[in-house]
Amino acid sequence: MKFFIDTANLEDIKKAYKIGVLSGVTTNPSLVAKEGVKFEDRIEEILQAVPEVESVSAEVTPDAVTAEEMIAQAEELIKINGGDKNITIKVPMTVAGLEATRYLAKKGVKTNVTLIFTVNQALLAARAGATYVSPFLGRLDDISEDGVQLVAKIAELFRIHNLDAQIIAASVRHPDHVTRVAMAGAHIATVPYSVIDQLTKHPLTDQGIEKFAADWEKAVKN
Ligand code: E4P
Repeated sequence: MKFFIDTANLEDIKKAYKIGVLSGVTTNPSLVAKEGVKFEDRIEEILQAVPEVESVSAEVTPDAVTAEEMIAQAEELIKINGGDKNITIKVPMTVAGLEATRYLAKKGVKTNVTLIFTVNQALLAARAGATYVSPFLGRLDDISEDGVQLVAKIAELFRIHNLDAQIIAASVRHPDHVTRVAMAGAHIATVPYSVIDQLTKHPLTDQGIEKFAADWEKAVKN
């Protein structure tokens, strides 16, 4: 399973990229709004900060409701950073979103269909030609449904029917989500930097480092 980072915060993106674990970036209107920056400028900055990833998702804005409006925005977004091949157009899971996905897929533009909460939505998005489908597990857990189970079912369905779309487990809240979606067959987990940081840690690692340091100090003094 690969890691994408789920943020529009440039510093967090650079930190994750530096440690070599990053295969992509996902953003959404809420994440961009939180940064208080111009959308297109931030997408360009992200594309430039992470040249060796496979995908940077830029979501069409909420005022693009029809397929035509989404496509018009996508056509501007794909020009950013000199027509960067990593740009991925993120569209909501609606009829219009599927229509835009179909159109963009035929043009060779990568797409990420977001806000997926059922297996059927994932199947439709994959059939429309989505490069990525994003089931939101944390938001399902929030309403007492099993988000990891949804990811497992989508993975099984894509295997049975040989569907090429990659599953991005999204709305990931903690390390246990990461382990469980990896075991469930997600191709990618998109996570905030705080979760990447948590994944690096274990109390026994810290204790081990302290013990090595203490033993080394003793030996050096003797
Ligand atoms: C995915 O692409 C979304 O940006 C994200 O994972 C949403 O997560 P949230 O439910 O924590 O807002």
